Amino acid sequence: KKVVLAYSGGLDTSIILKWLQETYNCEVVTFTADLGQGEELEPARKKAELMGIKDIRIEDLREEFVRDFVFPMFRANAVYEGVYLLGTSIARPLITKRLVEIAQEVGADAISHGATGKGNDQVRFELTANALDPAIKVIAPWREWDISSRTQLIDYAEKHQIQVPKDKRGEAPFSVDANLLHTSSEGKVLEDPAEVAPEYVYQRTADPEQAPNTPEIITIGFEKGDAVSVNGVKLSPAELLTKLNELGGKHGVGRLDLVENRFVGMKSRGVYETPGGTVLLAAHRGIESITLDRGAAHLKDEIMPRYAELIYNGFWYSPEREMLQALIDTSQEFVAGEVTIKLYKGSANVIARTSPYSLYSEDLVTFEEGTGSYDHHDAEGFIRLNGLRLKTYAARNKLAGRS
Ligand code: ARG
Ligand code: SIN
Repeated sequence: KKVVLAYSGGLDTSIILKWLQETYNCEVVTFTADLGQGEELEPARKKAELMGIKDIRIEDLREEFVRDFVFPMFRANAVYEGVYLLGTSIARPLITKRLVEIAQEVGADAISHGATGKGNDQVRFELTANALDPAIKVIAPWREWDISSRTQLIDYAEKHQIQVPKDKRGEAPFSVDANLLHTSSEGKVLEDPAEVAPEYVYQRTADPEQAPNTPEIITIGFEKGDAVSVNGVKLSPAELLTKLNELGGKHGVGRLDLVENRFVGMKSRGVYETPGGTVLLAAHRGIESITLDRGAAHLKDEIMPRYAELIYNGFWYSPEREMLQALIDTSQEFVAGEVTIKLYKGSANVIARTSPYSLYSEDLVTFEEGTGSYDHHDAEGFIRLNGLRLKTYAARNKLAGRS
C-alpha cells in the first residue's frame, strides 16, 4: 500500500504523515510544492527523511502555477463575492494534479491532504482528484482521526517524537495559506468578525498609512490577455507576479478583510493580501477597456461570477469551467498593449493605456468637430425609439393614478 501526501513540512502535515504510517501501515511518498509561499523547502526534506520516507518529491511549480492557472483566471477578471481574488482556490487544482500524477507514477492507491473537514480546500482537493483519476482514493485524516483539538494534536506529536516548534505549543494565532498570488489568514484571532484584525496578521503588504509618501508609476505590457512585461522589461509569468508583489506590497496594495460564504455552508472571515494580483487585475481591466468590444466585455462581466464560483467551489477541472475558459480566451486575442498604473498608499489606479489594437476612436468621441461616421441626427431617432416604451409605460401609470 502506498499513499502520496501533500506535505508542507509543517507540524500538521508531519503529524498526518506519522498517522498515515501508523493507521494504514503504508509507505508514504511526500510531495512538497514550491508555489512561491516563500518558505525554505529543504527542511521539509530533512523532516521527511527523519520519518523514514524513501521517496521525497520537492518541485518548483511557480511558473506552471502562474502560467497555466493564475493567468487564465486573470483573463476572466475573476473575483469571488465581488472582491476575493481566489489565491488559495486556484492553487489547489495544481497541487492535486501533481499528487495524482505522482500516485500514478509510483503506483499508489491513494493521495492524502491536510485540509480540515470544515473548509473549501478538502472539496477542491477531492473534486480535482475525482476529475483527473476516477480510481484514486483520497485520505483526509482530519475527517478520520479522533484528534479534535490543537492540544490533542500536540500530544500526538510529542508521543511520536515529532518536533513541536515553541510557537506552536500554545494555540497557533491563526491559520495561513500562502503562494505567489496571495497570503490568506483565517481562524483564531480572526474568528470574530466584529473584531478588527491585528496588524501582525499582515505579512506581505505595508500598512497603507506607513507606505511611501511619493507615488510610484509603473507600466505593465500585455499580449493576448496576459501580462508579459513590467516597466518595459520582459518577464516570465512567475517573475512578473513576483515583481508586482514587490511593487504592490511596498505601497500597501491588495489588503482585504472579508466575510465570505464557504461552499460547505458556513460563513468565514479571512484576511487576504494579494498585492501583485490586485495590480494585475486593475491593469488587465485597463487594457481590456480599449481593446475589447462592448458586447464582448459585458458578456465577460456577466459570466465572470459564475466562472469565479466554479474555481472557488473546486470545479477547475469541469466541462463548464473549460467551456467558459474557451469563451474567455477567444476574447483575448487583441488584448495587448501597455497600461500605466499609479501605486500610492494602498491604491493601484490605471492612469493611462495604449494598444496597437485599440478600438478607442478619438475622432468618434471628440467634442470637437469629428470627420467620422457618427451623425448627430442618428441619435435623435435612436433615443426616440428607445424612449417609446418608456413613454407608453409612463402614460399608463398616469392613467392609473400612479406617478
Ligand atoms: N477562504 C479561502 C478559500 O477558501 C482560503 C482558505 C485557506 N486559508 C487558510 N488560511 N487556511 O479560498
Ligand atoms: C481548511 O479547512 O483546511 C482551510 C480552510 C478552507 O479550506 O476553507
